[in-house]
Amino acid sequence: MIEAIYDRISVRTYEKVLLDVEAMGQIHEIIEKNKGKLGPFGHQISYFTEFITQDFDDEAKKIGTYGFIKNAPGFVGGTIENTLEGIVDFGYLFEQVILGLTEAGLGTCWLGGTFQRQALKEHTKEGMIIPAITPVGYPEDKKSLAERAIRFAIKADRRKHFHEMFYDQDLNHPLKDDAKDKHKLGKILELIQLGPSASNKQPWRIILDDHLMHFYLERTPNYAASMPFVMQALDIGIALAHAEIGFNEEGYQTTMSMGEHPSISGWDYMISIAYKK
Ligand SMILES: Cc1cc2nc3c(=O)[nH]c(=O)nc-3n(C[C@H](O)[C@H](O)[C@H](O)COP(=O)(O)O)c2cc1C
Repeated sequence: MIEAIYDRISVRTYEKVLLDVEAMGQIHEIIEKNKGKLGPFGHQISYFTEFITQDFDDEAKKIGTYGFIKNAPGFVGGTIENTLEGIVDFGYLFEQVILGLTEAGLGTCWLGGTFQRQALKEHTKEGMIIPAITPVGYPEDKKSLAERAIRFAIKADRRKHFHEMFYDQDLNHPLKDDAKDKHKLGKILELIQLGPSASNKQPWRIILDDHLMHFYLERTPNYAASMPFVMQALDIGIALAHAEIGFNEEGYQTTMSMGEHPSISGWDYMISIAYKK
């Protein structure tokens, strides 16, 4: 999984080939493996897939990705309860599917905004929502012009510095980028830094305490305000998934729960990870 975190990149341009039976089987296997898992707040995702059987452009127009995502031969999505906690859980769980698909050599791209929820409504029930979907297919070597324009506009290759996101005990002690190598949790924080986020806003903030990692959301003002759910809560779930993978890799045991934490003006406290060896 660690390699998949380093390798993953949003893929918006796909080879124009239908998925063969083997690839579809692989995708279903990854979903099957993840299906029963619960998020840190106890929700689970009901997954669905849509595979293109005929015209790529017709399907893209139906799902509403036409112009942004080129030649995707399939989509994976899911529904979950539409609460703040449900959305965090979706981020945490769906990122594990994204990383599984990445490990299988397939391209993906988190889509929270640029698709038509309405076109997929047969998959949802009352009180549930599709927070995001991903196209899935083989990445085309050459990115489309639209894809290059998107990446440029949102500075997709850049990440915030450690001192803008990660703090030791309180805000007076931001970590420096060299903490990546010097701090005992540096590698884990780097995995969080590498995470995808909506419009690459990276709204996760972390305060380190004794054996605790507190997660906060610093909301981008007015961001995705017209959406029927808190888009940036997905980013927190993604950060939690990356942190847990890092902790596991380094031999720590972890539990996630809400508890005592420093309160920071302008940040929403979400959850803490308690870790021990
Ligand atoms: C929750 C979420 C929603 C996203 N929604 C969209 C979207 O609607 N359209 C899009 O083109 N990219 C979307 N992205 C992809 C981000 O723009 C991308 O992850 C970010 O720019 C970093 O680039 P990278 O994924 O290549 O590392 C989304 C990512 C996340 C995590």
